[in-house]
Amino acid sequence: MNVMIVGAGGGIGRALLELYIRMPSVQRIYATHHRSVSSYSSTVQWLRVDLGDPGSVAALGQQVDQPIHRWVCCAGILAGAHGQPEKTLRQLAAAKLQHDYQVNAVGPLSAFAALAPRLRDTDMRAVFLSAQVGSIGDNRLGGWYGYRMSKAALNMGIKCLAIECSRWRSMPTIVAVHPGTTSTNLSRAFTKTRKEPVQSTAACAAQLFELVESLLPEQSGQFLRLNGESLPW
Ligand SMILES: NC(=O)c1ccc[n+]([C@@H]2O[C@H](COP(=O)([O-])OP(=O)(O)OC[C@H]3O[C@@H](n4cnc5c(N)ncnc54)[C@H](OP(=O)(O)O)[C@@H]3O)[C@@H](O)[C@H]2O)c1
Repeated sequence: MNVMIVGAGGGIGRALLELYIRMPSVQRIYATHHRSVSSYSSTVQWLRVDLGDPGSVAALGQQVDQPIHRWVCCAGILAGAHGQPEKTLRQLAAAKLQHDYQVNAVGPLSAFAALAPRLRDTDMRAVFLSAQVGSIGDNRLGGWYGYRMSKAALNMGIKCLAIECSRWRSMPTIVAVHPGTTSTNLSRAFTKTRKEPVQSTAACAAQLFELVESLLPEQSGQFLRLNGESLPW
């Protein structure tokens, strides 16, 4: 079995990578990084991709020469060079909204499209990490325009993908997953005052691994929590 982890240098991505490295049936792991990473297993082939750069995403297609049986996209941004999550309309900046949209929605979908010829094997499962705050039906607080809008766009892309790919001869299982609040570089600054406990990357990855490996074809096209419960789109 061959695995692709997009964003394997991040908190959740790297913890998941550790689990797939230990899975005996895994022959090859394609792991994408954005900044530098250290390689520590002969099973892992690192590929550099910038989801903010359409040319870099398109080039992924030429770098993968094996069929992929598990696709997990763990990449995403909440804050960065373009600014912090917006609390009010006064903080809206087009450049940040566009960058969030490119990295969180356009990039992951385009990476999947670039690799589509390698994603047609029997029992292929694709998981995209989204976020509950990207749910339109569940939005009660507002704010975080760029992150919420880009994750909602990602969710729509995943839904379209699941419908289109259900017509493939080997039907893949494709879902959006909210990983739950997890202690990573992405979340740390925003969870300091949180009263409820924040899960570790190891705990998150263990549940994510279980979810991917137990996904059923009838779950395709759903937005799920790590425990398999459905979330509203
Ligand atoms: N942590 C949470 O509480 C939480 C909650 C809900 C949803 N999520 C979602 O879970 C996923 C994983 O997040 P995380 O918490 O593990 O965050 P993280 O530690 O910050 O990891 C994010 C990953 O995205 C990659 N990335 C960022 N910009 C990129 C770009 N332009 N091109 C390619 N890759 C890029 C990072 O690569 P580099 O480090 O190399 O830049 C890193 O591998 C994200 O989609 C996030 O939205 C997380």
